[in-house]
Amino acid sequence: MSLNKPHLKVHNVQDVQKENVQNMAILETLQILSELLWFFIKLIYYWAECLYLKICPLPPVSVEGEIVLITGTGHGIGRELAKIYSSKGATVVGWDINKQTNEETIKEINESGGRPKAYSFQCDITDRESVLATAKEVRARVGDVTILINNAGIMPCHPLDQHTPNEIETIIKVNLLAHFWLIEAFLPSMKRNNHGHIVSMSSMAGMIGFPNLVPYCASKYAVRGYMEALHEELRLGNPNNKIELTSICPYMVDTGLCKRPKIKFERLMALLSPKDVAEQILKAQTTRQKEITLPGYLASLTLFGRMLPNNASLDLKDTFEAFVESDL
Ligand SMILES: NC(=O)c1ccc[n+]([C@@H]2O[C@H](COP(=O)([O-])OP(=O)(O)OC[C@H]3O[C@@H](n4cnc5c(N)ncnc54)[C@H](O)[C@@H]3O)[C@@H](O)[C@H]2O)c1
Ligand SMILES: *[C@@H]1O[C@H](CO)[C@@H](O)[C@H](O)[C@H]1NC(C)=O
Ligand SMILES: *[C@@H]1O[C@H](CO)[C@@H](O)[C@H](O)[C@H]1NC(C)=O
Repeated sequence: MSLNKPHLKVHNVQDVQKENVQNMAILETLQILSELLWFFIKLIYYWAECLYLKICPLPPVSVEGEIVLITGTGHGIGRELAKIYSSKGATVVGWDINKQTNEETIKEINESGGRPKAYSFQCDITDRESVLATAKEVRARVGDVTILINNAGIMPCHPLDQHTPNEIETIIKVNLLAHFWLIEAFLPSMKRNNHGHIVSMSSMAGMIGFPNLVPYCASKYAVRGYMEALHEELRLGNPNNKIELTSICPYMVDTGLCKRPKIKFERLMALLSPKDVAEQILKAQTTRQKEITLPGYLASLTLFGRMLPNNASLDLKDTFEAFVESDL
């Protein structure tokens, strides 16, 4: 009998614990329900706010006096970005692996008068040591970079089994890993001043998979992934965070990067001009967009495609056939 007593007591404690767990579960459920209710009330407000901003958009912030570092300024979109940011009064720092074409871009800016001087630096952005050393030089000669545009990229284009291992590594190094070295170099001063903006080039190939571009698509999807994650880290790390991030996902642009485009509706879905793309990037950055597609309607079209049954989404892809043929 006396042996039973402690046993009974333990049993009671277990009962009480079980009851506690049940009570806590009910409390948590109530909490979730009330927070969801509050969320839906706020959702109505956010929708109204969105609609209001569509009608009366916030004015773009000025880039005058900002120091903007752009990678890949020797050609294509990077070159147009350098010219357009400089024309808006920003001090442009252009990096490229190609010294000559980069200096051409910067010289054109220097000679076009009435603009801040621009600076060219030769750097292979896949080389972390070189990125950090060149960043040091930029800090000494020009100052703290306040806008970083990760633009340089490469796009070898052929079936996966014809990509060499070396090529696959280089695609990931230029299109993805290099962004980390540049962020390592320039995010700390942005954090110190709680002021800055990082723009990274993804692509429509970072939203949709394309043949001949398996490693490229992997690199461009990854860019959107790290940008979204970094955004969360900055947002949760500092409630007063003022560092902005923007990912850009353009359709094919007429820079020569897409060597053999194959487009069914050639007129309606013509290649974009690098100048227009640069203008849209400036607009997205200065109006603090988180992620844009170019043209903008592709964002909705992609989202729509994702909601469809798989075969319908493949049908949609075939209907708007646009891809790049092998460059081999
Ligand atoms: N052109 C398109 O159709 C298109 C579409 C979507 C996204 N994008 C992306 O836009 C960005 C710019 O593309 P683009 O068409 O202007 O390219 P581009 O080939 O015209 O110019 C790229 C520049 O980057 C430089 N570069 C390449 N590797 C480098 C390295 N390791 N270090 C430093 N500089 C390097 C090149 O020398 C060149 O000047 C890329 O990230 C590209 O993936 C392009
Ligand atoms: C552009 O001007 C800056 C500032 O005067 C100078 O340092 C740089 O060498 C010039 N670059 C080119 C390519 O002309
Ligand atoms: C999708 O299409 C393929 C090829 O036409 C067919 O074999 C398959 O059964 C379809 N899948 C579904 C889920 O309908």
